[in-house]
Amino acid sequence: MSSNPFNLENKVAIITGGASGIGAATTELFASVGAKVHVSDINLEACQQRHSGSAFAENISVHHCDVSDKASVHGFIAKVLAQGPVDILFNNAGAGLVGTLLQTSEEDFDRLYQVNVKGVYYLTSALMPHFLERKAGNIINMASICGVIGVPDRTAYCMSKFAIVGMTKAMALDHAKDNIRVNCICPGRIATPFMLARINEYPDPEAIRADMDASQPMGRMGEPQEVATVALYLASDASGFVTGACESVDGGWFAG
Ligand SMILES: NC(=O)c1ccc[n+]([C@@H]2O[C@H](COP(=O)([O-])OP(=O)(O)OC[C@H]3O[C@@H](n4cnc5c(N)ncnc54)[C@H](O)[C@@H]3O)[C@@H](O)[C@H]2O)c1
Repeated sequence: MSSNPFNLENKVAIITGGASGIGAATTELFASVGAKVHVSDINLEACQQRHSGSAFAENISVHHCDVSDKASVHGFIAKVLAQGPVDILFNNAGAGLVGTLLQTSEEDFDRLYQVNVKGVYYLTSALMPHFLERKAGNIINMASICGVIGVPDRTAYCMSKFAIVGMTKAMALDHAKDNIRVNCICPGRIATPFMLARINEYPDPEAIRADMDASQPMGRMGEPQEVATVALYLASDASGFVTGACESVDGGWFAG
């Protein structure tokens, strides 16, 4: 362990869904502490734009990857592994959906499952043989407060994020002796550009914002950087004895 346990020098990380929000903030943070980051997104142009002006651009490689498409995932992982070993996988890409059961069409249900659950399955199973061969690996999955408690109007989203918590715990046990740690992050409401844009579509954005702020006992939404720092903790030696954990980043929401 280096004297700074949060240092990621000589580490290589893959981050999905890195064009925006939490994935973009984590890419910047990991690159700033020395990691070589392969960041991907379904929207390649937005991802390139987001990171082209970075002060740490020499540590960032931008790729296209649609996590819901097995061939796209396998092509991305093969391209990255051709450049050398990988230490960290952050399965961050995800999609949201508002709706009760009867407001959720079968197509939307399947789409959410395909992106949020199968995406994690595709990425992780593509990289696991590499981690097993190296006898080292670090997997961080993006879950949500909706993966540990039920949240109204989020039936399919809760389904997908509860699945991520379950996969995380099971994989952590399966690979505890392989020196492969598997953890997940459970954010409350985070003020990403996408979230803020959606709030502005409501007739009374201020009331919606106040409502969303109040979900968190701390009385505000989190910032993408406040999730990125938790991802850094999980990615680094600082969390060397942590596996199978669900790290809450929710201003106290899960506390009850
Ligand atoms: N913002 C929140 O309040 C919040 C709370 C809890 C969990 N999360 C989770 O955090 C993760 C990141 O979300 P965010 O809030 O930063 O949202 P965001 O919309 O800002 O970023 C998500 C990124 O994922 C990309 N993406 C979407 N589908 C993809 C696909 N099929 N393949 C590859 N990339 C894809 C998007 O293009 C986008 O760049 C998601 O898994 C989300 O469910 C967010």
